[in-house]
Amino acid sequence: MCGIVGIVGKTHAEQIIINGLQRLEYRGYDSAGLFVSDEKQEHLVKSQGRIKNLQEKLTNEVNGTIGIGHTRWATHGKPSEENAHPHTSQNGQLVLVHNGVIENFAELANDYLAEENFYGQTDTEIVVNLIASFMEKESLSTKTAFQKALSVIHGSYAFALVNKEEPETIYVAKNKSPLLIGLGEGFNVIASDALAVLDQTHEFVEIADNELVTVTADGIVIEDQKGEIIQRDAYQAQLDASDIEKGTYPFYMLKEIDEQPTVMRKLTQEYRDDQGKVNIDKDLVEEVSASDRIYIVACGTSYNAGWAAKSLLETVTQIPVEVQLSSEFGYNMPLLSERPFFIFLTQSGETADSRQVLVQTNRLGFPSLTITNVAGSTLSREAKYTLLLHAGPEIAVASTKAYTAQIAMLAILAQAVGKNKNSKASTSFDAFHELSIVATAMESMVDEKDYISSLVEHYLSTTRNAFYIGRGNDYYVASEAALKLKEISYVQAEGFAAGELKHGTIALIEEATPVLGIITGQNTGAHTRGNLKEVESRGANTIVIASEELARQEDQIILPTVHPLLTSLVAVIPTQLIAYYACLQRGYDVDKPRNLAKSVTVE
Ligand code: F6R
Repeated sequence: MCGIVGIVGKTHAEQIIINGLQRLEYRGYDSAGLFVSDEKQEHLVKSQGRIKNLQEKLTNEVNGTIGIGHTRWATHGKPSEENAHPHTSQNGQLVLVHNGVIENFAELANDYLAEENFYGQTDTEIVVNLIASFMEKESLSTKTAFQKALSVIHGSYAFALVNKEEPETIYVAKNKSPLLIGLGEGFNVIASDALAVLDQTHEFVEIADNELVTVTADGIVIEDQKGEIIQRDAYQAQLDASDIEKGTYPFYMLKEIDEQPTVMRKLTQEYRDDQGKVNIDKDLVEEVSASDRIYIVACGTSYNAGWAAKSLLETVTQIPVEVQLSSEFGYNMPLLSERPFFIFLTQSGETADSRQVLVQTNRLGFPSLTITNVAGSTLSREAKYTLLLHAGPEIAVASTKAYTAQIAMLAILAQAVGKNKNSKASTSFDAFHELSIVATAMESMVDEKDYISSLVEHYLSTTRNAFYIGRGNDYYVASEAALKLKEISYVQAEGFAAGELKHGTIALIEEATPVLGIITGQNTGAHTRGNLKEVESRGANTIVIASEELARQEDQIILPTVHPLLTSLVAVIPTQLIAYYACLQRGYDVDKPRNLAKSVTVE
């Protein structure tokens, strides 16, 4: 979703900002803009669409020493040049970029800015004028007026503000939306994601909600709401700029699909001690073991990962597991068990829907764990415990390696809890050994690219719709497979419990509708095959993805054998490749599907 990059104290600020915004492109955006100033001249450039459009508008004369830039994913107001950030106050003095959503922007406009006309429809334009009006009407300094505006604003935000008359200072503040300060020699940077400025620095300072930071070339001053100065140590980002390079791959998604066997092995390395036991915080293992129900709360692909790990967790830990959609759970919390334990699955660690549930469970005093790929992310900071996925940055909007890493992480956690509780199943389940078998199986599946590409060409190249079906764990993979297919190829795909098709949805089956059946469950395979026959006799083209021991000669994709509780980790690989090739063959942008954002920071 929206991205922010800013810098003060270095020449050619515009180039640094453009480079940073390009690194955030993967998060999804529909317009971009930047403001730079070199004390003599100011440049404000905005454009709809890709950052290269913005780049083309910059002339060679621009040489800023301070600047702020933004990529916008429209929430209030359509994607357009006028709604793109930075927004300028009507007196022309202030420029502001903003990530997040101001919930009371209409009231603010009404209460404080009733006489003003606005050029766009964004909440951000209201905020920049609100600060300007406090400065004008109450003769306040930029910082005090900004502080005052923050005190009346409700919602989520990461703001970066520049007063053109103070071209040596960027004021920043955040609430719920991420923002970091990067420290340099003689310059400082700001970014909504450390990845954006790794070419400038690896040293970062976190900002907490409701703090205001004054950033100049020589230093930063962090103040809390009362104006008290806060000292905070910097930390070194454990990321390498090369982690975010595509290398020889045409798209990040393909690279990330290929990385999955390595991620399985990396997780094993990270969480296994010298004796081969699980190395996870003992307090965390105790708290999960003491719970009477685990609630997995997540969205999208992470939600699907929760389902894929449910029976594994239940079998190995002997604790019932519920999987819940964050955006529903937060507003319709069911009757909870007496000793619930909450697991937030979130690749980005920033998803607003999940965060609002965490805020509530924290308020209720329940223990929580965030499983995320991003160290220091909001949900990681706010949950009691964190387990990192160590999958390396996932740049493609469509999540692949984070999905499999989440399931593998839950398998490792399940083993630790099962062993701690002495559960019978945990004695025969060695997560590390099983994950090494999974890694090898994944390798053989990612090697099937050409074959899968030809299958897609044959069955899916022109279809408007498709179905994935399965039962039990295969149904959960079917849901993820369908999500992947629809989000990047725009094929209307649905994942269905195979037995449910005949209760209504089978009406949609027409001549040549592709129906892909996933068959890895010993006790369900025959039934799913029966359901495939039912659609075949109504004209569907069926494609079978089956595990070795259940496969028939005519099946199109055969999966190597892995532990029955971990089959999703392997079955999902061909479906990721199917989505990839369906997108590629239609000529769409694999890594940046329309309307989607990588990190969804609005509810
Ligand atoms: C789809 C995808 C999304 C995310 C969802 C939650 O490929 O990536 O469905 O899974 O937006 O995001 P996180 O995991 O960051 O909470």
